[in-house]
Amino acid sequence: MKHKKLYLIPLLLIFVLISTSCCAFAEAKPDAWWQKTIAYEIYVKSFKDSDGDGIGDLRGIISELDYLRDLGVGVVWLTPCYASPQADNGYDIADYYSIDPAYGTMEDMDTLVAEAGRRGIRIVMDLVFNHTSNQNPWFLESRSGQDLEKSDWYIWMDAKEDGSAPNNWRSIFGGSAWTFDETRGQYYLHTFLPEQPDLNWENPEVQNALIDVAKFWIEKGVGGFRMDAIAYIKKPSGFPDGEPDAADGTCGIHGMTANTPGILDLLHTFRDAVQTDTDIFMVGETNGVSAEDLPLWVGENGVFDMVFEFGHVLIDLPDEMNWCKTRPWTLPELKQIFTASQEKTLLTGGWVAMFLENHDQPRSISHFLPENADRTAGGKMLATLLLTMRGTPFIMQGEELGFVNVAWDDIGQYNDVSTRNHYAFAIKEGYTEAEALSGVHRFARDSSRTPMQWDTSANAGFTAGTPWLPVHDDYETVNVASERDDPASVLNWYCSLAKLRANEPVFTEGNYTEIFHDDEKIFAFSRETEDTKAVILINFSTETASYDPACLEGAELVLSISGQDDRGMLMPLDAAVYLIR
Ligand code: GLC
Repeated sequence: MKHKKLYLIPLLLIFVLISTSCCAFAEAKPDAWWQKTIAYEIYVKSFKDSDGDGIGDLRGIISELDYLRDLGVGVVWLTPCYASPQADNGYDIADYYSIDPAYGTMEDMDTLVAEAGRRGIRIVMDLVFNHTSNQNPWFLESRSGQDLEKSDWYIWMDAKEDGSAPNNWRSIFGGSAWTFDETRGQYYLHTFLPEQPDLNWENPEVQNALIDVAKFWIEKGVGGFRMDAIAYIKKPSGFPDGEPDAADGTCGIHGMTANTPGILDLLHTFRDAVQTDTDIFMVGETNGVSAEDLPLWVGENGVFDMVFEFGHVLIDLPDEMNWCKTRPWTLPELKQIFTASQEKTLLTGGWVAMFLENHDQPRSISHFLPENADRTAGGKMLATLLLTMRGTPFIMQGEELGFVNVAWDDIGQYNDVSTRNHYAFAIKEGYTEAEALSGVHRFARDSSRTPMQWDTSANAGFTAGTPWLPVHDDYETVNVASERDDPASVLNWYCSLAKLRANEPVFTEGNYTEIFHDDEKIFAFSRETEDTKAVILINFSTETASYDPACLEGAELVLSISGQDDRGMLMPLDAAVYLIR
């Protein structure tokens, strides 16, 4: 009898092998260091000024590394601090190999990498590779003539017969995407400002130069790269006109060039050259890459370790250029966007970069919550989503204090060039000044760039001089020192969530399943490993919300904003985290 069943053993083995490898494929246990940590974005210009010139700097960051460590941060993404004329606050790089004097020196950078490392924090550099500054020597050479070594490093085209631009593309910051260069006698393409000419990625020499830059920073000991505007590097052949979508007959460049077929080949070449013998990670800024495309971008055969997907931040903005035209949205729609990215990345063992705000986006409390929402409860509620979702959470500086948008009265008070251009575009499209300004209040990038608020002293302790951008006028109550001392603050809620995440592997390793999809008020999901299940319930509304508590059978409450454990009911803007073991 015994022997008869022996033939079952190989079958059983095959079954075990297949099932474990399927599991490994679908839900590989995240074991890379960057999957187990929390990332924090520093807008270098606004974080901390050490020398009183009103501009944040690297020494300022070094002086606050303990703050970041105590918050549970393991990755710091620095916005560009390379030499730059600052036409777009550093996203116009004149030299990838040097630090802008306003921010410090290369020695300061080395110290920052080392001091951060001592605290278990790795620095992530922002690689702006779609374009350079027009002051970059590469561009200066390229514009000087048509038969020089770097002539073909940018995208040059002849004018049309009537002297006008090669096509009708409008840059993301407004105005034609082409600028005529008198010296060279041709137009060059710029997805953003005229001061930000696009590199020609089709030229292998350009690719090699960019690979060298990345290698230089890996040698410096950084932990990874954020790949700026990377979805735009491939342009469609023939550079065709687009369907006009503005009164002046132009067509937004985003729809013409984002995620152009063939882009992945360019990026595979880059990744293969850069990510060898290194544990760095790369996160792509990929506006224009949809959830459907994710399996090609992240995971087993992807080009990045994770990407910033834009669905949720664009939920209310059907046309990114037009800040006056918003659309109402529902919570089930928002949930669907997050759930779709989770499902699509899981398909190929990919990973998610989870974010609710960054230096280009409004503050999340202002963006996703009703105007009357209590900002402390709201900030904590959003933090719960950010830190319990599957993926690496990215906190934008100030988000952990519950920052909200600024609403300055005059467009002249805004620093950001894109904000000013959006305003001008709205006026050109026929909106009133009041309408244009209200769009600015809603979406201006300056809202996420106001100086960090450290304490109640002058300029919130950001600088001893005059800050380059005004400090938010709420700084006397919303600041690190005050929130540190208040157990009910948004900051302390972040610390509690970060501790929970660090201590309970289910928040890193668990899969993700949405619950109560059609509920208009509650965002609920579970995270589950073999031995633990976490249930997260988040009330996005300013009213109480009820739900079926059956999902909490055997569950123990570990965190709740209101402190209540009313199973079946959530207070306005409350969030609760339960564990079932
Ligand atoms: C990215 C950056 C943004 C910048 C733009 C041009 O979207 O996040 O701040 O203005 O690229 O580099």
